[in-house]
Amino acid sequence: MTAAAPGAPALQPTAATAPGAGKLLEAIGVSKSYWRRGSLLQGRIENRALDQVSLDLAPGEILGLVGESGCGKSTFAKVLLGLETADTGSLDVGDVRIFGPHRRPIPAAQRGIQMVFQDPYGSLNPRMVVRDLLSEGLRIRGGLSRTEIADEVQRHLALVGLGTDALTKYPHQFSGGQRQRLCIARAIIVKPKVLIADEAASSLDVSVQMQVLNLLLDLRDRIGLGIVFISHDMGVIEYLCDRIAVMYRGRVVEEGMASDILDRPRHPYTNLLIAARPRVGQRRQPGRTAGPEDDPAAIELAPGEPETRCLYAERCSRALDRCRVERPPLATHGTTKLACFNPL
Ligand SMILES: Nc1ncnc2c1ncn2[C@@H]1O[C@H](COP(=O)(O)OP(=O)(O)OP(=O)(O)O)[C@@H](O)[C@H]1O
Ligand SMILES: [Mg+2]
Repeated sequence: MTAAAPGAPALQPTAATAPGAGKLLEAIGVSKSYWRRGSLLQGRIENRALDQVSLDLAPGEILGLVGESGCGKSTFAKVLLGLETADTGSLDVGDVRIFGPHRRPIPAAQRGIQMVFQDPYGSLNPRMVVRDLLSEGLRIRGGLSRTEIADEVQRHLALVGLGTDALTKYPHQFSGGQRQRLCIARAIIVKPKVLIADEAASSLDVSVQMQVLNLLLDLRDRIGLGIVFISHDMGVIEYLCDRIAVMYRGRVVEEGMASDILDRPRHPYTNLLIAARPRVGQRRQPGRTAGPEDDPAAIELAPGEPETRCLYAERCSRALDRCRVERPPLATHGTTKLACFNPL
């Protein structure tokens, strides 16, 4: 956990609502809507980017968050990080309530959550050499001498497989994969409890992608980092993740152990995603048939309009009449959680 800035509120353990033992992160019922102005008749139109999302993460676990473009993956990450404010719901990191009803949210820098983005070049200041890029977070946090900071920088460079010759180089002097490793080093140097990787390997060449994925696995094993790995690529999710949560239009529709979900997807949407997945180490075939990610859609609602149906029903070959009038709750089915009235 990042140390509190001077004058910042002290982090208080949550008493009554402390997360269950072993949970590193627990989000409950998180919703977030974006609003836009429609026509005179429509009034304000709500885009419900997150609708009652509940997810948790154990120490040393990699949770894959998967789903088509626009389903809310990045919005969920931004809400966890504090870059966006949730409309409802709560978040605990360890025994600290980060936000929740009647609580002032803990500022982003004190949440113990760091993020690695898709574009490693865009997220590194091109005018700073690596020594300054990596030490910045430690200097802002305070409490370490210059020698201690220099030692930490070198140690983290080594952790991500880079040598001390990198210290005086600028971001443009590295390859894409090396830059992404620098981003990971910069994120973990402030000792977060949770790392969120949002499409962190998606822009990389297949072999470099493997290096970054293996580095995340290594960090999970060596420093017990909990990782939320966001991707629309089921192949990468399969390679990396212990547990998978599948999102569809702002909702979690299936969640469980990766092996269970991959071997026996129960939600028709998960089944479609898995059937269309490329394997890690393989390039996508040109001219492939359209996959679910080719059909981005957002839920747009007029103010106050309840969303009382399965949002997948219109695309689902197994939809029942009930699916069009009733929202399937995310309920436990054996070892997985599922929001479907007619699962596979
Ligand atoms: N700042 C914003 N203002 C308005 N709408 C937004 C904003 N950010 C996201 N949205 C909308 O919220 C929904 C979820 O977007 P989000 O970026 O979370 O999707 P995603 O699952 O990360 O997609 P992708 O795989 O393409 O990155 C989309 O409908 C998007 O248009
Ligand atoms: Mg995104």
